[in-house]
Amino acid sequence: MINFVRQLLRNRRNARRIARDEASDARLNSETGRSDFLALLDEECAQSSLIALLEDALKQPGDIIECGVFRGDSLRRILKTVKDRAPDRTVFGLDSFEGFPPGGITGMDITRFRSKDRLEGKFTNADDVPARLNRFADAFEMKLDLHKGYFEHTLGGVSDRTFAFLHIDCDTYAGHIEVLDALYDRVVPGGIIVFDDYNTEEWPGATQAVDEFLADRPESVQVSHARAKPAYYMIKAA
Ligand SMILES: C[S@@+](CC[C@H](N)C(=O)[O-])C[C@H]1O[C@@H](n2cnc3c(N)ncnc32)[C@H](O)[C@@H]1O
Repeated sequence: MINFVRQLLRNRRNARRIARDEASDARLNSETGRSDFLALLDEECAQSSLIALLEDALKQPGDIIECGVFRGDSLRRILKTVKDRAPDRTVFGLDSFEGFPPGGITGMDITRFRSKDRLEGKFTNADDVPARLNRFADAFEMKLDLHKGYFEHTLGGVSDRTFAFLHIDCDTYAGHIEVLDALYDRVVPGGIIVFDDYNTEEWPGATQAVDEFLADRPESVQVSHARAKPAYYMIKAA
């Protein structure tokens, strides 16, 4: 019974998100709509320390990557910033667009009020997102390269690139370790890694994974309050 109600609520939430994205997509059809869309993104970027860190990171060479895209809210802001400041760089986005892989949620991610069952159903049903994001990027001539699939299958496809900026927003302990194992060495000295889930009550495994990974490395996690919404990050050492 609880699972039935949970699924019902999840479906409703998802329908609301799709309706919101359809309204956003409709803006791409007219010049006024497109400029309104960009103005809205500018407002969101002005609130975001993630974006302030990205602006700093773009002083270094390399591409940009987000691991954990979901419906593309942060990715659109990243794309807008890169288009304004470094339009030749490519923004990569990695996501299954169907939630966590089987076995992706482990004991490190579960809290008293968030069971494994509950977490496993999150972020499913985002199949419509890649086409929407590609259409958005095309409309503004932004360089976007999406890789759909579980990280274990997609990280290899970007491992020949170097990155000025890596945004990790994949929630779980296992996801963080997979991404850091594959991409830490691909981030250039002075490049920045932002940890969206660090120090959150919802995803304790994210903090644990980052702390464990950095324990024998020279970097440490810092927090940026450059803009209204703070962000946890590290700067890659030389
Ligand atoms: C919190 S959401 C991302 C939110 C997004 N950055 C935003 O600002 O709206 C986390 C995403 O990570 C993805 N994800 C988590 N683990 C993954 C894995 N192992 N492989 C692929 N995608 C994964 C989920 O599918 C989900 O869409």
